[in-house]
Amino acid sequence: EKGGYPHFMLKEIFEQSRSIMDSMRGRLVAENTQLTMSSIREYATRFKNADRIIIVACGTSWHAGLVAEYMIEEFARIPVEVEYASEFRYRNPVIREGDIVVAISQSGETADTLAALELAKSKGAMIFGVCNVVGSSIARATDAGAYTHAGPEIGVASTKAFTAQVTVLSLIAMMIAEMRGTMELTALRSLMLEMEKIPAKVEQALQLDKEIQAISEIFKDATNFIYLGRGFNFPVALEGALKLKEISYIHAEGYPAAEMKHGPIALIDENMPVVVIATKDSSYEKIVSNVQEVRARKGRVIAVVTEGDTVIPQMAEFVIEVPNTHEALMPLISVIPLQLLSYHIAVLRGCNVDQPRNLAKSVTVE
Ligand code: F6R
Repeated sequence: EKGGYPHFMLKEIFEQSRSIMDSMRGRLVAENTQLTMSSIREYATRFKNADRIIIVACGTSWHAGLVAEYMIEEFARIPVEVEYASEFRYRNPVIREGDIVVAISQSGETADTLAALELAKSKGAMIFGVCNVVGSSIARATDAGAYTHAGPEIGVASTKAFTAQVTVLSLIAMMIAEMRGTMELTALRSLMLEMEKIPAKVEQALQLDKEIQAISEIFKDATNFIYLGRGFNFPVALEGALKLKEISYIHAEGYPAAEMKHGPIALIDENMPVVVIATKDSSYEKIVSNVQEVRARKGRVIAVVTEGDTVIPQMAEFVIEVPNTHEALMPLISVIPLQLLSYHIAVLRGCNVDQPRNLAKSVTVE
């Protein structure tokens, strides 16, 4: 049932070009600039006039929510807040009727996310779900929703569910942008065309497996890791660090690259591996300086860069080249090498990759 792979996690990582395609199926025809999500159409007036979108989620799903925040604000110009479900539900949040609350959950059974949406519901907000498991508790408790269609995820560490969530959320962001007229049609169309190319580019990123395995050999005994990213890649830094912590038990911190100088830079010395997601986007020049700051303190830089980059490869000790895409869609590609890195490091350390200690696939306790 692992399809020839040694672990479910690796199988699920390698399924991603397919699962992203499944998440888009029937929803996107870029050629005609056509987006079809019946649940969004049904609530078109609510989405068009939403005062605010509040995203509630936990863990990896919360990271997908952060990517969605950047996308929805950029494309659809609606203010977005991303909340840890557990904090949201216990802090008497301000929820108004014009708010839409989006609950993101792979399992659809996470207790805190379910309770957060019940709270928002009781205050009159419309609840939209982005779940993977069909018929799950969260899916049933929402007013409307869009399934991610990633297929069953068995490995405790979430991989293909994350990319499916980001895929669906990007389609939602595009669709709201279209309805609100906040994006030029040509820009929207080119974004949609890029979206259609993502599965092939993910497939290309997966070819980095051997290269990443070799890097993993070098860093398998590290006791700490720092992950840095900016803009759309900031949530990817958080996700990369979470994956490593979960399955290899190495302490890792994900940070917005510019925030590093406000504290974590003190951690950097010649023993500190620093994974920098530095693809060519609007923050590129800035992240080049962040890499310099790390190098100046002798940190060991492992950089994820856009193929053809000539600047960062001169500064980083290890370089992982990924195909280029629209910056908003880059998380779908840049997360792949980080998933593989955590996987290989965990395997090399002899960890139980599919069932890491202290973790369960769905957290049904609060
Ligand atoms: C990370 C992981 C957890 C879950 C979190 C939310 O790899 O598996 O952080 O993402 O428990 O779970 P769902 O999405 O099922 O609500």
